[in-house]
Amino acid sequence: MNIVSNLAPRKTINPQNKMKVTVVGAGNVGATCADVLAQKDIVNEVVLVDIKPNFAEGKALDIWQTSPINLYDTRTIGVTNDYEKTAGSEVVVITSGLPRKPGMTRDDLIATNAGIVKSVTENVIKYSPNAKIIVVSNPLDVMTYCAYLTAKVDSSKVFGMAGILDTARYRAFLATEIGCSPKDIQAVLMGGHGDTMVPLPRYTTVAGIPVTELVAKDKLDAIIQRAKVGGGEIVNLLGTSAWYAPGAAAAQMVEAIVRDQKRIYPVCALLNGEYGLKDIYLGVPVILGKNGIEKIIELQLNAEEKALLDASAKAVKEVMEVLDNMKVVA
Ligand SMILES: NC(=O)c1ccc[n+]([C@@H]2O[C@H](COP(=O)([O-])OP(=O)(O)OC[C@H]3O[C@@H](n4cnc5c(N)ncnc54)[C@H](O)[C@@H]3O)[C@@H](O)[C@H]2O)c1
Repeated sequence: MNIVSNLAPRKTINPQNKMKVTVVGAGNVGATCADVLAQKDIVNEVVLVDIKPNFAEGKALDIWQTSPINLYDTRTIGVTNDYEKTAGSEVVVITSGLPRKPGMTRDDLIATNAGIVKSVTENVIKYSPNAKIIVVSNPLDVMTYCAYLTAKVDSSKVFGMAGILDTARYRAFLATEIGCSPKDIQAVLMGGHGDTMVPLPRYTTVAGIPVTELVAKDKLDAIIQRAKVGGGEIVNLLGTSAWYAPGAAAAQMVEAIVRDQKRIYPVCALLNGEYGLKDIYLGVPVILGKNGIEKIIELQLNAEEKALLDASAKAVKEVMEVLDNMKVVA
């Protein structure tokens, strides 16, 4: 008897109806996102795209060769700028662009990365008009706006990854301080992906216990400050920006969409009157499911929290105006 034929397949793959996800940019963040996604074993195919010849092909081959070790079926393929291979993607993650170097702010990247995000989005939409687009490239809020202007689809389908990462940094620091599992820390963080982001201690709990009962105010303030500049801390250590946590965070958003999980995550979303703000991409809690952003959740912020959110919105709006004035997107 053939033992192999006795084993039930882990998953039925229907070649006519493949669940495909594309990750554009096979650099540090993109390749990590593809690797984490493949290991989750929740889609049939991950297509990795890069502009650098053979780069995505090499990364994808390396990732695919982990499948017999990590025991999953997801096929990762790599292509050089061949968007036909991305056709029919359910979700597209855009990580293409320059990362930050020491001394640079996220906003310094605007000119170069806006051109890249625009051309990538045009290609993506041409072959996957119904895709949900997750932008990762920095400056995040403004690159997400750039993708939205280019894609010309509903804003529920174009959003950015920052809040899950920023919240993860905050949660990891809290877990270290309290000496507890990071799994038990629930938190929400709002605003732009930059030093003006707004962590909300009032909405931070540790296994249901308000964080203020476990961490003294001065320690909590120091953790909040460290989380705000958490990206810069890694840039200074590594000479480039982080990738393990950003890649995993983007993959977690993909999972919420392809499995229609309706997870509540902080996501960079277009606001249309929520929080008294309009026509601005900003980090807010949302429900993420198969349709992309299915609902923006409006918290009852107190005056101090609202003032911090407004200050963050002002900073983001200024960079959005820089993009508008550059006329990269018609
Ligand atoms: N949102 C966040 O929280 C967050 C976190 C970390 C990094 N980032 C940003 O993500 C981006 C990627 O960071 P990284 O560390 O992976 O950089 P990286 O340099 O390692 O990778 C970027 C890749 O994009 C490719 N690329 C450039 N132009 C392209 C194009 N037109 N089409 C396809 N591919 C193209 C490059 O060849 C490169 O391989 C940066 O803008 C970085 O600032 C955002």
